[in-house]
Amino acid sequence: MSHASADDYRPGLEGVIASETAIANIEGADGAGGLEYRGYRIEDLAGHVSYEQTAFLLLHGELPNRQQLREFDARLRQARPIPEALVELYQRIPKSIHPMDVLRSSVSVLAHFDPDANAAPTDHAANVRKAERMIAQMATAVAARRRISQGLPLVAPRADLDHAANFLYMVHDKVPSEAMRAAFDLSLVLYTEHELNASTFAARVTVSTLSDIYSGIVSAIGTLKGPLHGGANEEAWKVLERVGSPENAEKWIQDALARKQRIMGFGHRVYKTGDPRATILKTHCRALAQEVGDDRWERIAEPIEQAVTSQKMLPPNVDWPSARLYHYMGLEIELYTPIFALARVAGWAAHVIEQLDHNRLMRPRARYIGPPHRPVKPIDQR
Ligand SMILES: CC(C)(COP(=O)(O)OP(=O)(O)OC[C@H]1O[C@@H](n2cnc3c(N)ncnc32)[C@H](O)[C@@H]1OP(=O)(O)O)[C@@H](O)C(=O)NCCC(=O)NCCS
Repeated sequence: MSHASADDYRPGLEGVIASETAIANIEGADGAGGLEYRGYRIEDLAGHVSYEQTAFLLLHGELPNRQQLREFDARLRQARPIPEALVELYQRIPKSIHPMDVLRSSVSVLAHFDPDANAAPTDHAANVRKAERMIAQMATAVAARRRISQGLPLVAPRADLDHAANFLYMVHDKVPSEAMRAAFDLSLVLYTEHELNASTFAARVTVSTLSDIYSGIVSAIGTLKGPLHGGANEEAWKVLERVGSPENAEKWIQDALARKQRIMGFGHRVYKTGDPRATILKTHCRALAQEVGDDRWERIAEPIEQAVTSQKMLPPNVDWPSARLYHYMGLEIELYTPIFALARVAGWAAHVIEQLDHNRLMRPRARYIGPPHRPVKPIDQR
């Protein structure tokens, strides 16, 4: 048996290298803390290539040429409709259940209807096909459940719209403006991948037992939901709502910091000087605020951002601006974390496939701190 030394213990696995990956680098080319997907800087991808191109890059290793993109896009569009059984389930699940919980169940159900359902977990080609179907169908699933829970008629996916426009169309029954479509697409690109974050780690651990890709994604969705991870974008919006007006912002944040309150949307386990995704999104928040003619939330966010950054040395992370961005798109708060998931599924899938292609069971150790060895007393003597 191998013995774990007490010195090996890192609470929260901070700084532990638990995998090798060729998918994302969060130290940047110069080690300055940038984010790259397969060697491409996020600043060069966001706003320049679509979510579809980014998903192809993550799954297939290279940016697509025109023909590859046409074929990939056609496969995604064709895979968009979801099984009738899932729609029926949405009608039975209580309306009060959070969309993130429903999404977790949805992916489990989608697994049963996948044409490759019985393929071996290590079948690389089948896993890529499953990943493409999940990318297409999770968006339809989130939109369909949202419409059903609101008592609205379903809006079928439209094959003439790209991934970003089609999602907003299925939610609102209205084709978005080009500014909205482009900002949503960009946010999906920024949310797509982020190395060994908690949900990606959970997905990799799950499939390291040679379990299947759908099980890996279900684990990831359950892990993303928590407010210290993906759930932070919903919590960030609640902060802005609680503050309510720009005039309240300074007092609210000073009181919160004095109470040592954790401010959602700030801080990061790895980025200590700033999250590059937040910097990109902030510019788009301002532009969309102008488009919808309401800069109140920008004026609330700014003093909070200044105070947390300067007094706590905690810059905003991606979830701080994305909450505002989605609000400007008319998306309700409970959809923010599911949107994170339907973007991140491409990154999760790429990691799951990478894990299965080079698998070794993930099985760390724990340092035992319980009672020492002791005899079992008969029940009457306890
Ligand atoms: C993301 C996060 C969990 C990473 O934190 P971490 O590296 O594990 O750091 P810890 O949770 O151990 O916190 C370390 C210290 O910083 C403080 N801190 C961290 N994030 C904070 C925040 N958002 N607001 C206020 N204080 C914060 C903690 O209270 C703690 O202070 P203490 O040492 O006085 O107790 C953390 O920054 C956080 O909870 N942020 C808010 C949730 C969020 O936005 N999550 C999305 C991440 S992309």
